[in-house]
Amino acid sequence: MDALEGMYQSFLRQMGEPAFLEPYRKACRKTEEKLGKINVDYSKQLGRAFISQITSRIKTPESCLNKMLKKKYSIEKETAQERLNDISGVRVVCNFLDDIYKLVEILKEDDEIEIVKTKDYVKKPKASGYQSLHVIALIPIEGMGKKKVEIQIRTQAMNFWAVVEHHFVYKKGNYEKYEFEKDLKECAKAIYKIDKKMLLLRERMETAQVME
Ligand code: GTP
Ligand code: MG
Repeated sequence: MDALEGMYQSFLRQMGEPAFLEPYRKACRKTEEKLGKINVDYSKQLGRAFISQITSRIKTPESCLNKMLKKKYSIEKETAQERLNDISGVRVVCNFLDDIYKLVEILKEDDEIEIVKTKDYVKKPKASGYQSLHVIALIPIEGMGKKKVEIQIRTQAMNFWAVVEHHFVYKKGNYEKYEFEKDLKECAKAIYKIDKKMLLLRERMETAQVME
């Protein structure tokens, strides 16, 4: 094993240590709990389901290493802690476009969490066609300081696209993906149109209900 390989192995080991991962797990749990409560409150208030799915994951040591190499960061635990925003990741799926922004506003008003960054790939989709709103939030963990959590917020339709694209393209590298790029982008655009149409439809139905 050469020196470089040794450094990678030691990094992977450190990133997988239970003591290292525990605060990140807690950050995911706490965020999920918070979102669960928000969902109960707002679903009641709106008279319909606000959030349809909340999931979380911890980034694997291998995925951390790959990202650090890609970004040309020094391969150290401290650098990972400092620079990786998505070791704790939570995904929230809503039904409607406006719910994404409503949720961001709710999170901004939460006294306990601090939003350090938002990336709006709904207003400005990625070149691939990917749409989602990403929030990087600092979550306080009792006795463990604060941890960053990447919260990805998207509609069901956007999620459908992202899950399929992620499986076949995003993590797979360069295999003949160019062949599908155009069609995937077209699908993403069609999905945005449907999301907007569904929102308008909901608003019309809500108005009609009020007038009954
Ligand atoms: P990554 O190194 O890919 O994590 O990117 P980043 O940390 O520079 O941030 P970015 O906002 O680009 O992406 C964060 C996350 O969004 C990724 O880890 C994916 O979960 C998701 N994502 C970003 N781009 C795409 C895409 O083109 N397709 C899919 N399916 N997911 C994407
Ligand atoms: Mg990521």
